[in-house]
Order: sequence, then C-alpha cells, then structure tokens
Amino acid sequence: MKLPRQFFQPLAIGAPAPLGELPVRLERMIHFVPPHVEKMRAKVPELARQVDVVLGNLEDAIPVEAKEAARKGFIEMGKSVDFGATGLWTRINALNSPWALDDVIEIVGTIGNKLDVIMLPKVDGPWDIHYLDQLLAQLEARHKIAKPILIHAILETAQGVNNVEAIASASPRMHGMSLGPADLAASRAMKTTRVGGGHPEYKVLADAAGDAPRAAYQQDLWHYTVGRMVDACAAAGIKPFYGPFGDFSDASACESQFRNAFLMGCLGAWSLHPSQIAIAKTVFSPDPAEVAFAKKIVDAMPDGAGAVMIDGKMQDDATWKQAKVLIDLAKLVAAKDPDMAAKYGL
Ligand code: GLV
Ligand code: MG
Repeated sequence: MKLPRQFFQPLAIGAPAPLGELPVRLERMIHFVPPHVEKMRAKVPELARQVDVVLGNLEDAIPVEAKEAARKGFIEMGKSVDFGATGLWTRINALNSPWALDDVIEIVGTIGNKLDVIMLPKVDGPWDIHYLDQLLAQLEARHKIAKPILIHAILETAQGVNNVEAIASASPRMHGMSLGPADLAASRAMKTTRVGGGHPEYKVLADAAGDAPRAAYQQDLWHYTVGRMVDACAAAGIKPFYGPFGDFSDASACESQFRNAFLMGCLGAWSLHPSQIAIAKTVFSPDPAEVAFAKKIVDAMPDGAGAVMIDGKMQDDATWKQAKVLIDLAKLVAAKDPDMAAKYGL
C-alpha cells in the first residue's frame, strides 16, 4: 500500500502537485459532443454558455473510422473556444483500445492547460487509474501543465462495481465517477436493451386479494449500483454522477431517473441530447422550496447544536448538516444563474 505521505507527491518530476481538495464547481450536466462532426463543433461556443461541462466524446458512439478525426476535432475545439467557467472534459477510448495512448498523448500535449478532466471508460480496478495517473504526470511534466488534469471513472463493468471503493480512492487525481448503465448491463448479462432507466418487467406485485387486480410497482434497476457508487465517492471525497439516459423521447422517465440519482447524492448526469440539458438543470439545482426550508433550519439553529421543531418536524445536528448541503449547492447554482438566485432569495 502506498504510504499516506507519498499519496500527495507528484508522480513525475516537474508535474504539478496533486490537489488536496477538489475545485468547487457546478457540474449538473456533462454535455456530450461528437467532435468529428463539424456542425456540432460549430455549436460549441454557444453550448459552452448553456451547460456546466462540455465533453468531447472519443469513445463509444464514435465510428472506428472517425476516431482520429474526433480526437483532432476535440483538440481544435479546445484550442479555439473560450470555455470561461464551463468545464472542458474528454472521454478517451478504453485503455485496451488502439486509440487510448494517442488520445492522452496528443490531447495533453496540445490543450493540456485547458483540459479539466479525462473521463476514463471501462474502469475495472485501481490499476487502471494508477496507469493513467502516472502517464498524465509524465505528460504534465513534459508539457509544463500548470494544474493537474483530473480523472473521472465510468462505473460500467461488474469488476469495476466490485472494486468501486478502491477506484474512488486510487489517486488524488480522482474527480468522481459516473454510472454507465449500458455497458454495465452488458457486463452483467442483464436481459435488457436500454441505455439507463427502468424496465417494465422489473417490478414487485402486490399480494393477491381474491380476484381483485394486483397492483405492480416498477423498481429502479440502478438503485443498488448508484447506492454503492455514492457511498464510495462520498467516503473518498469525490463526486458521484448518473450517466446516460438513452430514450430521448421520454423526458419524464429521464427526469425521474436523474431525480432518483440526485436525491441519493449524485451531483449531475450526462446530457446526450440538447433536450436533456434543461432536465438536468432543473433536477440538479435544488428545489427552491427545499432550500427555503433548509434556510429555516439553519436560521433556527445557527450553530447546528441542540434540537428544534419546525412545522411539526424535529430538527437536529443531522438535519442541520443536510440543510447545509442544500444551501451550499443552492449558493453554487445562484452564483451562476441570476434567475435561480432570485428564487432561492440568495
Ligand atoms: C456509458 O458509457 C454506458 O455504457 O452506459
Ligand atoms: Mg459505456
């Protein structure tokens, strides 16, 4: 095991020191762009003003014959666009693919000083993070990168889920993790053909009562994995995210899946279609009514000690801490969005 004292040492001479704390950033939606498509690239300056994170996707959904064009397109996008406070991420190809090494070498070598996060797919265990961590440190040193490029893992293999705690704490470079329900379903041999969301046959039937029709309650296929991911991330001080929702025609189901993830502790989700940007913005910005109640709690117990009753509900140290989570997030949203600031009264 690496000694605690060595954990925060740079992995290459000349690489920037690893961060002790993650930067405080709003990341409600990670918006996926196919960078080989010129028409899509042309929309990025405008997009960067609407979303919290722009991600150039190099992995799945990019045709094999367009892999190099996607990498070049992403570099061009990174060079030419001013992203301001919006995050610039890329999803590189899997480490065992023919493209991953050049993805990292070329991107860090050209736009390493603008890149915030590398999303790494198909992470099976901490060894995948250690490899990329070392490679990034070498490249950061070579190209004089000022701040460490962070790593975001996709939790999308059964082995990855088995190793989720070790992945979350593999390196100070870890930014967070996203659930990858499509690959995870395949890895587990789940009997589905969807990208995230529920399944009408995954349900619990109410007990039979004579001949009365029996109610059926659909369950959340992803509850177990999101729960494990949230605990692993929270314990390691990194951020959990829901990943993709593939049925663009079902905004309600997307919203409900995102909201379950938000309530369980996730901070954002992927938007794969422009319509999902607004959904993620609504879901991952705390509800003004909840924020108002959270403010009542904090006002009633300024130092968080003791217990008080508000609207018939008991409040104590633990609800005070929950209230702080909502208020801190609302402040982050308010700083970016004047309309929400007005709704929160912040
Ligand atoms: C995302 O990459 C997924 O496989 O769901
Ligand atoms: Mg995947």
